[in-house]
Amino acid sequence: MSIVEKFVSMEYGSALEDPREVLVWLDRHNRRFLHFIDGTWHSPAEGRYFDTTDPSTGVLLAAVAQGSPQDVDVAVKAARVALPVWQALSGHARARYLYALARQIQKHSRRLAVLETMDNGKPIRESRDIDIPLVARHFYYHAGWAQLLPQEFRGHTACGVVGQIIPWNFPLLMLAWKIAPALATGNTVVLKPAEFTPLTALAFAEICQEVGLPAGVVNIVTGDGSTGEALVKHPGVDKIAFTGSTEVGRAIRKATAESHKKISLELGGKSPFIIFEDADLDSAVEGLVDGIWLNQGQVCCAGSRLLMQESVGDKLLAKVRERMGGLRVGAPLDKAIDVGAIVARVQLERIQRLVDQGVAEGATCWQPPTMAMPSQGLYFPPTLLTNVHPSSIVAQQEIFGPVLAAMTFRTPHEAVELANNSVYGLAASVWSESVNVALHCAAQLKAGVVWVNSTNLFDAACGFGGYRESGYGREGGREGLLEYLEPTWFKEAPAIKSSPATEHADENIEFAAPLIDRTVKLYIGGKQVRPDSGYSIEVRSASGALLGEAPSGNRKDIRNAVEAARKAEAWGKATAHTRAQVLYYIAENLSQRAEEIANRLAAIVGAKPAELEVQCGIERIFSYAAWSDKYDGAVHSPPFRNVSLAMYEPIGVAGIVCPSEAPLLAFLSLVMPAIAVGNRVVVIPSERYPLITGDLYQIFETSDLPGGTVNIVTGRVSELMKGLAEHADVDALWCFADENSGAVAKFLSASNLKQVFTNEGRDIDWFDVQQGEGRWFLHHATQVKNIWVPYGE
Ligand code: NAI
Repeated sequence: MSIVEKFVSMEYGSALEDPREVLVWLDRHNRRFLHFIDGTWHSPAEGRYFDTTDPSTGVLLAAVAQGSPQDVDVAVKAARVALPVWQALSGHARARYLYALARQIQKHSRRLAVLETMDNGKPIRESRDIDIPLVARHFYYHAGWAQLLPQEFRGHTACGVVGQIIPWNFPLLMLAWKIAPALATGNTVVLKPAEFTPLTALAFAEICQEVGLPAGVVNIVTGDGSTGEALVKHPGVDKIAFTGSTEVGRAIRKATAESHKKISLELGGKSPFIIFEDADLDSAVEGLVDGIWLNQGQVCCAGSRLLMQESVGDKLLAKVRERMGGLRVGAPLDKAIDVGAIVARVQLERIQRLVDQGVAEGATCWQPPTMAMPSQGLYFPPTLLTNVHPSSIVAQQEIFGPVLAAMTFRTPHEAVELANNSVYGLAASVWSESVNVALHCAAQLKAGVVWVNSTNLFDAACGFGGYRESGYGREGGREGLLEYLEPTWFKEAPAIKSSPATEHADENIEFAAPLIDRTVKLYIGGKQVRPDSGYSIEVRSASGALLGEAPSGNRKDIRNAVEAARKAEAWGKATAHTRAQVLYYIAENLSQRAEEIANRLAAIVGAKPAELEVQCGIERIFSYAAWSDKYDGAVHSPPFRNVSLAMYEPIGVAGIVCPSEAPLLAFLSLVMPAIAVGNRVVVIPSERYPLITGDLYQIFETSDLPGGTVNIVTGRVSELMKGLAEHADVDALWCFADENSGAVAKFLSASNLKQVFTNEGRDIDWFDVQQGEGRWFLHHATQVKNIWVPYGE
């Protein structure tokens, strides 16, 4: 072949990156790594080690300490001791450490990139040009937040000791996503890297030493899932941040249910890559290559479901096949390859198994017929599956490999339906030359990140994280910092005391109140309905006088209420202005009936508190009417030719369990922020005074609140709460009842990974504006969707 022919056929020779510096570094450590605890290296208590190998060759790289519960304990204690030292530093001092880490990472960037590639199998082009620059960017960005924290997050305190568990697909990048915000906000850290890829975390430990980070601020304990489990269960840990499989995320939710550990979970995905007929097809195909074949598809947000408009399906698939044929699979250290090695044999086998299952279910498998595959190492060819049914395993389960499942749609509506037909909701990519089509589609997608005419863009300033079973919490941006902070008052709040049923009861008013037939009903779908059980619960005052009867709701009533809430989705789509108007109207109607409601409430809480509850309640509704069109997002300017629109979206259908105390005010303090931002709710009111329901629905009925927006089911809180927690169509659960209910809510919510918000067994003063209202509630009522839009020259 002549030189010209060779050039035209775009054949490349190999351009191997030199691994020598990494080999010297490994040798310097005698190819054996200990835990990094309290600023120094610690032998594993049980003396056990595991091997880490290069998946592209099978060559052993090093032996690494296997962490036991004892090792985890030592590390957590070191982090605890370091906490006051770290927190005593000024924001500026912490910023300087983060800045120093960023600088040092840049200085060692090539060695880190090569090490990452050797341990993980990802192409050097990716570790060098994507992973490591983003790692440095993350530390720079968060150095800035450390500096600004005292001004910008007034009234917030660090969680404390944070346990962080990361996966193997972006080892150092995930470490940066975890450690940088944790340190910037004044936490100390125990991090467990994935067992397949521990080496760059250990190189980072050395960098911590180099910059003189105070001992114990960052601790790294290596090991497998059992080490992670020990970290999750350690009582000295205040927060767990996890990235990995949904299965383990669920286990972590359950394991922490009885504790007050804050958790954030960044889990799996099955992200749609949607191409409309008017898209620039060549650009879309280039995007697709990046979307599914980056890091061999071992990416949580990989665009693994190709959804093509039918009219361009064949043309597009021809282009995809042609482009796939041009991909080069090979040695990850070769700068000219596109697809590297799969991280481990078990992962390779899993990919093959899922592809086989997909084919058995009717999919057609295509792999470039003439593709040269390496003769050794763990490789899987780029794979295209067509004729995929939307319910097929390959359309539903995360494969985490270089496998694309293609489907077609006819209309934009069908595209959104198909895209959202998944338990996951991490990311999506939308390709259309029409800004209307793209943004209309982006708004309807259930995904934490939507890339318009682009894909796989990440930046420290833009939150990343999922909807649904892709987890909760965000990494990056302001919202990412909030995951590592608590309101100071909340952290210091005393434990809740269970108040006697009628602490303040004012008997005079109780007897003055009319007692005739105060039998309330359930309120579902905008209608007063009788309970399925046909039973009622008596509500009595302190003296035992019968105040009325409330329905004893059951699971069926909860199901009906959830169905009604699900149907009322128009509320979430209404403009914020419209929602504000309805809230003001509710306040107005409450105000008109203030006296009679306070009179009835007085029989339970006493005259003065009842009056105060009504007055504060009116104010609270006003507050959230005000917030509804002011709690809005941001536009980020990442260092690309894009902007990212950080939109606050409602979570969907929320279950709300009210505390016994302050029956009216606590109800309003929880329900109003939820509906102000567009959620629909199913509420279990105060068990102590469920009769408040009757007053509330009369107000809602006269305030233009669309039926189904607020549904109220009275009855035994513990029983009804379980019904909500286990319901697959409830997206979030707020449980402000007793401590036990909170733990049960967290445990049962693991079924579909609902976001759970509780008082963590602490006392909340609903009359205090700082505690009872504001951004803290709104933050829990929303999730951020980042929509990346091309912008600029
Ligand atoms: P994994 O979820 O088991 O591992 C992630 C991390 O969690 C590792 O550090 C592991 O040691 C740790 N871990 C495992 N069990 C634990 C437990 N019970 N408690 C605490 N920590 C625990 O993921 P794995 O097994 O490596 O991969 C299996 C599948 O998970 C992949 O095929 C892929 O589908 C998915 N996955 C998704 C990731 C994502 O970012 N969405 C990342 C890694 C895996």
